[in-house]
Amino acid sequence: MVDVPLERLTQPHRPAEPANGRTFYIETFGCQMNVHDSEKVAGLLMARGYRPAVRPEEADLIFYNTCSIREKAAQKVFAHLGRWKTAGERGQRVGVLGCVAQQQGERIFERAPWVSLVCGSASYSRLPELLDRLEAGEDRVAGLHLETDQTFETELTRRQHPFRAYVTIIEGCDKRCTFCVVPFTRGPERSRSSRAVLEEVRRLADAGYSEVQLLGQTVDSWRDPGPPYLSFADLLLEVACVPGIRRVRFTTSHPRDFGADIVAAIDADDRLCEHVHLPVQAGSTRVLERMRRGYSREEYLEKIRLIRSARRPISISTDIIVGFPGETEEDFADTLSLIEAVQFDGIFAFKYSPRPGTPAADWPDQVPEEEKSRRLAALLERQNQIQTARNRAWIGRTVEVLVESRHEQRNQWIGRTSGNRVVNFTSPEPSLLGKYVQVLITQAGPHSLVGLHQGRTEVG
Ligand code: 5AD
Repeated sequence: MVDVPLERLTQPHRPAEPANGRTFYIETFGCQMNVHDSEKVAGLLMARGYRPAVRPEEADLIFYNTCSIREKAAQKVFAHLGRWKTAGERGQRVGVLGCVAQQQGERIFERAPWVSLVCGSASYSRLPELLDRLEAGEDRVAGLHLETDQTFETELTRRQHPFRAYVTIIEGCDKRCTFCVVPFTRGPERSRSSRAVLEEVRRLADAGYSEVQLLGQTVDSWRDPGPPYLSFADLLLEVACVPGIRRVRFTTSHPRDFGADIVAAIDADDRLCEHVHLPVQAGSTRVLERMRRGYSREEYLEKIRLIRSARRPISISTDIIVGFPGETEEDFADTLSLIEAVQFDGIFAFKYSPRPGTPAADWPDQVPEEEKSRRLAALLERQNQIQTARNRAWIGRTVEVLVESRHEQRNQWIGRTSGNRVVNFTSPEPSLLGKYVQVLITQAGPHSLVGLHQGRTEVG
């Protein structure tokens, strides 16, 4: 993480609220949506006069923003909560936000009676009211309504990063894949209006942000809820045209909603990053059907052909689950042959983890843990070779990199290409954070590239 001075973290267009003498600390687990939700909650707290504490021990308010996508993530939360049994004696209040909050609900108060606030992401617009009640001395407050058509709109977001900004465009999910908790933890799909999204991006550009990352659990399912009824591809192009914006990313796309117009948009505007994250989950049509993904292996491969036929070299990354109930050795071989056929630039692979309330959790044909581990290792080993080969193809080329952080010990800057490749490079320049520079690639590993800064080519 970049060490950014505090004054750069607050939005320049917003005067600081008077401090109330209290402090908060938020620890975040899970996806980018959670990271961004925490940024919104932090903004809300700062507007009430709270200030960030450096360590949780020093904070008056300790929040855990939680993830329950797999069992391990969910268990971690209770391990952390265990540290705060006596927090109340020191006047500290503990809150649980996010997916575990939604899934466990008021049971959290039973398991960890020292917790004072439980709130799921679909209820964040109620946080000011919950905080009012907490500040008035109530012991336990909860926001657990899931059914909503509202998105969490706030201008108070306190972003962690000074030049790359997350922007939520769609919340929730209606897909109901048989392995996934998200519809139960984040509620139904609801899109923000193009007007609200574009207004936020304009404000970000005015505040000096040059990269925006549009977020949604199924980002390409976004539909403009009112006039001018932009398509998702239109929205991408409009966002890219906001003066000051140089890079637009979006994640995560669902293959079912991914169309040729998105590829055409990326081809039409270089400010749209040449990267698509398109989770396939499995290579066997039989497993995909049981997962209720809504596409076959062939249909997925058709989307890949669409992306590969673009004028620009679009990187493709994916998510894969191994050991889904009923996955045979033959089904797994289909996943291996799919990664061979696609040649992904990156994958996130997971062992299937049964989640309470999801259909597949109760199926009788669960795959033994050792078998899941074996499949995961085999998949990652093959993918490592593929990535190494794909990254080596960049050696000798000069790429544009947005510099995101610095590794002091190694005396290296760390940046990212439009295609989402991490580049570590050396430079004689004293300060490159947030700048766009040209880097000559000299080495490549499975997960990153190494290069040399090419002169004074700052174009930001
Ligand atoms: N077990 C394992 N992995 C899961 N994912 C979602 N649900 C589960 C589960 N029950 C993975 C999917 C998804 C990613 C965010 O997490 O691959 O795309």
